[in-house]
Amino acid sequence: MKILIINGPNLNLLGHREPAIYGSDSMESCLRSLRERYPDTPIEYFQSNHEGAIIDEIHRCGYPEKSCDGIVLNAGAYTHTSLAIADAIAAVDVPVIEVHISNVASREPIRHTSLIGPVCRGVIAGFGLDSYRLAIEALKAL
Ligand code: DQA
Repeated sequence: MKILIINGPNLNLLGHREPAIYGSDSMESCLRSLRERYPDTPIEYFQSNHEGAIIDEIHRCGYPEKSCDGIVLNAGAYTHTSLAIADAIAAVDVPVIEVHISNVASREPIRHTSLIGPVCRGVIAGFGLDSYRLAIEALKAL
């Protein structure tokens, strides 16, 4: 099983960005420990601050041929705004798990709405960087 992790805007700043909310560990160390934990599961990583680039990456994974078996997607703030990313998820036949590092339900009301949630297989939020591991477990259990 091949998994693609996609991180959206501002998530390139993990470890530096608002550490009280997102912690002080970097995505690089998270990826290192995921790859150590799942040596037989290729884990690709893509991060972009651009909506269209995220859409292109979802297409690359799912169309015309599948290049991965599941996507772990932290769309960052696009979660709450992007119908275009939701449409891309709906267009491909690859399971997508929506992930958030913080517990978005306990934050500002604007973060309670997810436009991508309805087209994802499920949502994991609030477990810090461990949310990515939990999403991989969820994909493996499908
Ligand atoms: C986030 C939550 C979003 O509301 C926010 O815009 C982010 C990060 C999270 O991982 O907790 O950029 O997706």
